Amino acid sequence: MGFKVAVVGATGNVGREMLSILAEHGFPAEDVTAVASERSAGGEVSYGEDDVLKVEDLDRYDFRGIDIALFSPGAKVSAVHAPRAAKTGAVVIDNTSQFRMEPDVPLVVPEVNPGAIAHYEKRGIIANPNCSTIQMVVALKPLHDLARIKRVVVATYQSVSGAGREAMDELFSQTRSVYVNDPITKEIFTKQIAFNCIPHIDVFMEDGSTKEEWKMVVETRKILDPDIAVHATCVRVPVFIGHAEAVNVEFENPISVEQARAALKKAPGISVVDHRVDAGYVTPQESAGEDSVFVSRIRRDPTVKHGLGLWVVADNLRKGAALNAVQIAEILMRDYLEDRSGGDDVKQRRSAG
Ligand SMILES: NC(=O)c1ccc[n+]([C@@H]2O[C@H](COP(=O)([O-])OP(=O)(O)OC[C@H]3O[C@@H](n4cnc5c(N)ncnc54)[C@H](OP(=O)(O)O)[C@@H]3O)[C@@H](O)[C@H]2O)c1
Repeated sequence: MGFKVAVVGATGNVGREMLSILAEHGFPAEDVTAVASERSAGGEVSYGEDDVLKVEDLDRYDFRGIDIALFSPGAKVSAVHAPRAAKTGAVVIDNTSQFRMEPDVPLVVPEVNPGAIAHYEKRGIIANPNCSTIQMVVALKPLHDLARIKRVVVATYQSVSGAGREAMDELFSQTRSVYVNDPITKEIFTKQIAFNCIPHIDVFMEDGSTKEEWKMVVETRKILDPDIAVHATCVRVPVFIGHAEAVNVEFENPISVEQARAALKKAPGISVVDHRVDAGYVTPQESAGEDSVFVSRIRRDPTVKHGLGLWVVADNLRKGAALNAVQIAEILMRDYLEDRSGGDDVKQRRSAG
């Protein structure tokens, strides 16, 4: 007997990647259900190399019997349906921004704060952080353990896949339009994204920062340490998959480049590729399809007493979203839900409570 899993948002960028990672990892699922909107209900999505799943309509879908529900249908949809799923006894792992900062919802990056998963029971929901936050905190954790981080200043270079399928289509069609001299149409992004950079992701906040920048600040504190000061500038760039970040870190204690490199090399989930020669670093395009957070360009920042500069790159659909969620599901299954794979009693007990 295995676990019953539902993937909600299964036809989207993140949902498709979730299905592919569940299959790749041989997740012990007795049954996997693909769920999306009424628009794609009845259609099919791939599950691994050989299987296809029929898409169910979320509005009509009954979560009873589901052990783990991986959600990525957008924040407004999760707001309604994630609590509905949790009420039936499913543990929801939600990729949207809806629940991340709620105090009784754990916000988890397995390489950084896996222990937080233990607090899932109160709401039955675990939040997956923002893609840019995930790759940054994976890289910061071993450095924080070594020399205690005081302040981080980060500029992101975020690919269009972070804004969904339609955003990828917009980059493609605008690029084509530039070449064939057609008029540029803008539907997803506020300005032309082809051959351009846009310093605006998510909505503007009162203080002039964007919500994407705010997420990096508050999520880093919730996951890693509430005392770390973070200043972020988030930029959309014309790359299909893979986010890059230029990260400047100021430490409490001394730390050399060599110590940082050694700690990063030993840390889980990180690949250090840092040769001070042509092409001795990783770019977003090379990170697509990979699981690692890549760290390159490690160097001292001589403008502060204890400072380093880093270049951090990862596949935003994998480690930035789907892979992180599946890793959480794997820990959940191994450490907290073993009794469920044998039967429905526990689920029934929870839904009754
Ligand atoms: N992309 C990333 O790097 C990333 C990283 C972290 C978190 N996230 C978050 O994950 C969520 C999805 O992102 P994405 O990139 O996968 O977007 P996407 O490619 O646009 O896919 C959206 C998915 O949600 C489904 N959906 C939309 N409205 C729905 C509704 N009313 N009921 C049921 N399903 C609905 C869509 O189904 P249909 O096909 O039926 O429309 C589709 O499966 C967003 O909240 C995003 O912020 C994304």
